[in-house]
Amino acid sequence: MLVNTIELVREARRRGVAIGAFNTYNLELTRAIVVAAEKLGQPTILQLGVQAIRSGGEPLAVTTLAAARVSRVPVAVHLDHCSDIGLIETCFAWGLSSALADGSRLPFAENIAFTKSAVELAARYSGTIESELGYLAGTEDGITVEEIESSLTDPAQAHEFIAATGAAMLAVSIGNVHGYVPNPPPLDFERLAQIAAQVDVPLVLHGATGIPRADIQHAIHMGIAKLNINTEVRTAFLSAIAGWGVRIGPEPDLRKRLWLLLKESLNRLSGPVTSCSMLMTKKGAA
Ligand code: 13P
Repeated sequence: MLVNTIELVREARRRGVAIGAFNTYNLELTRAIVVAAEKLGQPTILQLGVQAIRSGGEPLAVTTLAAARVSRVPVAVHLDHCSDIGLIETCFAWGLSSALADGSRLPFAENIAFTKSAVELAARYSGTIESELGYLAGTEDGITVEEIESSLTDPAQAHEFIAATGAAMLAVSIGNVHGYVPNPPPLDFERLAQIAAQVDVPLVLHGATGIPRADIQHAIHMGIAKLNINTEVRTAFLSAIAGWGVRIGPEPDLRKRLWLLLKESLNRLSGPVTSCSMLMTKKGAA
């Protein structure tokens, strides 16, 4: 069933677990994520990035919402990293229940003003806003952020930021990076504890790909209630396609085989999605 993101995130926090937020780009990824959630009997979040939305438009949003609606477990649909207030409004109008209003590259005061305006907008659609303070190194949907420019969340600013914006969730930068990067920095758990002491909204950890499982579990224990996963699942999807292409070789009529490819990619995604989803359960996070 389709539910609101914030309900899932608050419930996860209350139970001391996290809710997995998986980026999706098409129906196969969406189905793989929902099927894994149903098998585990746990809720999940499907999230759409700006490039995916710009490419798939309303049909992508509608199919993602439809997959959530018919799911046997609670599923929410979220807009990931968006600095375009117009697109945030469009996604709320389509029926998404939350968005990351990403003002993290702006100076502090401008990030507050931008996030606050997104919170006011979201309220008109009974939606909620995830905010971001500090920003991540690595890559996210084609945007490359130089490691050198990466900035960690300042715990001293966190309280003021949430009080001034009214954002419902806070994404933190504690050494986490987007995607696979060589020699990723260790997570700064002390900083996470300081941030958690400053704000009473659920905390979000981006860039779960490549973080050792034990560190993820520790972060969940320390209050991370939404965990974002993109590259790991997307890579599994792409390698399923590449592997199929190598196996099948040159084929005069590929159309005949397309559904086989889609079926296989769905099957091959099951393992990685399930393994990521397991991290969110009480057992996996224990
Ligand atoms: P990864 O690509 O590292 O899994 O990060 C995903 C993410 O944070 C989406 O917002």
